Amino acid sequence: MIRSVITGCGGHLPGEPVTNDALAALHGLDTSDSWIVERTGIRQRHIAEPGVTASDLGTIAAREAMESAGIAAADVDLVIVATATPDSAFPATAVRIQQKLGVTRGFAFDLAAACAGFIYAMGVADSLIRTGQARCALVIGTEVYSRILDWTDRGTCVLFGDGAGAVVLRADEGRGNASDRGILSTHLHADGRHGDILQVEGGAGSTGGPGLLRMAGRDVFRHAVQKLAGVVDEALAANGLGHGDVTWLVPHQANIRIIEAVGKKLQLPPGHVVVTVDRHANTSAASIPLALNEAWRDGRIRQGDLVLMEAIGGGLTWGAALARI
Ligand code: COA
Repeated sequence: MIRSVITGCGGHLPGEPVTNDALAALHGLDTSDSWIVERTGIRQRHIAEPGVTASDLGTIAAREAMESAGIAAADVDLVIVATATPDSAFPATAVRIQQKLGVTRGFAFDLAAACAGFIYAMGVADSLIRTGQARCALVIGTEVYSRILDWTDRGTCVLFGDGAGAVVLRADEGRGNASDRGILSTHLHADGRHGDILQVEGGAGSTGGPGLLRMAGRDVFRHAVQKLAGVVDEALAANGLGHGDVTWLVPHQANIRIIEAVGKKLQLPPGHVVVTVDRHANTSAASIPLALNEAWRDGRIRQGDLVLMEAIGGGLTWGAALARI
């Protein structure tokens, strides 16, 4: 049985971190560090300079992932980019990155599932590898949310940051059980009835709106806790595994209270949940690969570990991916 094994990770955060106080001062926001930290756990974020695009950040993260996997541009036959802030409507940001990396074969495309984008991209890449359509994939989440934030809305602009993360997935042989290395399963969901509670109002192809992010925070919070708790159980049950089998939870980094609620549900000791939201804020599709990269590089995540990834985002879209490293 073919499995898609994570063989390398990379990440990139642009510039120096911007603290809550610095952000408030920069945009004249009526907020405070204590309000933001208490409600979200966020202490700082990174913001790309004008002119720096999602493909610029994604290329740096992808290069680092390729280096850690020990592969060359000629090995890559698939590039999938999860982003809600593409360089342009087309060509796809994935094709821009393909060109910047010097990849000249295979195929490349973007995928839009907001903050669940990386989980969706892992699901699609895994399917393409399992069916033999690709053997070596770059799966990238890259975002410049600073471009779609309303800097006069303190309820949203303090929550997000810019950044990119990437993984290399390679085809390998497995026995078809939960001890195999690689992605064991992915579980993807969407429910468009809740599209309006987290959306970008306007943008390419729209009939109006300023192209800025709007969110009903409380509604999103309620859906997040309930839907993420459901999908992590779904992923474990599909593989005949239980809460105690998970070595690491690598959640989407939107809010520390949502992360802790899911960690508690899994009965995981806090030391086994990877947290970056305090330093990165919510980098949407980039948040999981950035967190994975951090824990991979500092030696927390090791070969044989069972890693559970989960995310929810605008759509609503949500999902989970279970992988053995
Ligand atoms: N600083 C100070 N006060 C703020 C503020 C800020 N940055 N943002 C909002 N407030 C105020 C509001 O104006 C409101 O004031 P009022 O009571 O006088 O009207 C008050 O704080 C409460 O606002 P509310 O939006 O109800 O706060 P909350 O407790 O729901 O917390 C979030 C807001 C956004 C932190 C919380 O809802 C949340 O985390 N939701 C999930 C968001 C998320 O994860 N989105 C991404 C998913 S991918």
